Amino acid sequence: MTDRSTPDPSTTDTRLAVIVLAAGQGTRMKSSRPKVLHTLAGRSLLGHVLVTAGRLAPAHVVAVVRHERDSVIAHISDVMPDILVVDQDDIPGTGRAVEVGIAALPADFDGDVVVVSGDVPLLDAATLGILIDTHRAGSAAATLLSAVMDDATGYGRVVRASDGEVDRIVEQKDATDDELTITEINSGTYVFRVGPLRDQLPKVGIENAQKEKYLTDVVALLRGIGETVSALPVREGWMVSGVNDRVQLAEAARRMNELIVRHWQLEGVTVDDPATTWIDADVTLAEDVQLLPGTQLKGATKIDSGAIVGPDTTLVDTEVGANARVSRTDATLAVIGAGASVGPFAYLRPGTYLGADGKIGTFVETKNSTIGAGSKVPHLSYIGDTEVGEQSNVGAGTITANYDGVNKNRTVVGSHVRSGSHNVFVAPVRIGDGAYTGAGTVVRKDVPPGALAINVAPQRNMAGWVEANRAGTAAAKAAAAASDDDSESQAK
Ligand code: UD1
Ligand code: CA
Repeated sequence: MTDRSTPDPSTTDTRLAVIVLAAGQGTRMKSSRPKVLHTLAGRSLLGHVLVTAGRLAPAHVVAVVRHERDSVIAHISDVMPDILVVDQDDIPGTGRAVEVGIAALPADFDGDVVVVSGDVPLLDAATLGILIDTHRAGSAAATLLSAVMDDATGYGRVVRASDGEVDRIVEQKDATDDELTITEINSGTYVFRVGPLRDQLPKVGIENAQKEKYLTDVVALLRGIGETVSALPVREGWMVSGVNDRVQLAEAARRMNELIVRHWQLEGVTVDDPATTWIDADVTLAEDVQLLPGTQLKGATKIDSGAIVGPDTTLVDTEVGANARVSRTDATLAVIGAGASVGPFAYLRPGTYLGADGKIGTFVETKNSTIGAGSKVPHLSYIGDTEVGEQSNVGAGTITANYDGVNKNRTVVGSHVRSGSHNVFVAPVRIGDGAYTGAGTVVRKDVPPGALAINVAPQRNMAGWVEANRAGTAAAKAAAAASDDDSESQAK
């Protein structure tokens, strides 16, 4: 998703560094996974923050890690390999985290430092851009992003002096009853002039309820040496809300989804039911796509113009061509051609390629298979490790027996093939161009182009078997009645 009015990312801001705090434990998530690696809209919390940091085009991005450092570092090298990662030592607190982050910056860096938390995923680059501009336009040593919250519980409160500037920040756990009534909260997002911050951080102690080195204590220290600290309130509190537990994770996910859905609506996508449509941050949609209720688009899914997707469809890393129709389908790493039709009730597994105007119909599972342009697998089939040419029709109930218990083997079906219903293609096997197969055929040998393959045993009818073996049953009576009718109609 591209942002609204973001700063210009094409020119590096040499006077800007961003420190991303990601060392905390996140105990309230009650998870074996580090908090900042929990995901929304197909990206980790940290991933969202790093993408936003990158949009500011800073000269330096530093991520501070400690808890579950190895998995957090592995993730960072996946999503943003060129940033600096530093370890926080065993001194706890956001102040210590920033102190080690600053130590990683070049000693001669004398610009501004943006501090963001790895657990605040909804904050966007445009808002950070405004914060930076505000800070640079004034003379404050620090400018923090605040918000007025209906329920400020859990947040640090912004205590303002009589001159309106920020006097100090008090954490929830250290606040007096009076201070707890303050509704302006600290978002945990700041811009500092690096010099004063560098000087004051070593003076921050741990004499507080949590025995941690609070970054927020720098505010009072800066005031103490005659510096100003300003606070810029955001209008929308949700933008700075942190994710500390799974309730907040779901709220943030819903909010982010609303933003993404709205973005695509304004880009020309019809979304019948925004509340049940979930679109990941990295999905791309063209104009005149229509999404029906219950559609989830995940990963790098890409949908071309005029395609209609849903209802009740999940596409993961899947491409859908122009004007295709995909209904009640689950697809992963599949490519669906222009004008093709998929579902209802289709299961496309990785490596499925459906050509233009092709069809994968009802109760059909496909895997690692190419179905050529105009070819159809309309009903009740499993097609695996298969190549189908163009304009062929695979009969209802066809199964490719691709696995011999040891190896997976390929089936190759030519173009303009007409295979009968209820076939088994025992791989490896080839069916030539223009060939036919009879209903019920088990194709074990290659079928030459233009041939008809049949291998079912000739049908034998044992007349009177029911009367002889099942006398007195409803079937026997029905048979007797039918033969009376026959003889009557023959008598006429
Ligand atoms: C912090 C602020 C609080 C603010 C709130 C906004 C402090 C002392 N308090 O509180 O004023 O209202 O954010 O969401 O800063 N982290 C580290 N190292 C640590 C501890 C934390 O890197 O030793 C990281 C965490 O991974 C997280 C961020 O810092 O990304 C914030 O930590 P968290 O424990 O969630 O702080 P809050 O209690 O929410
Ligand atoms: Ca937090």
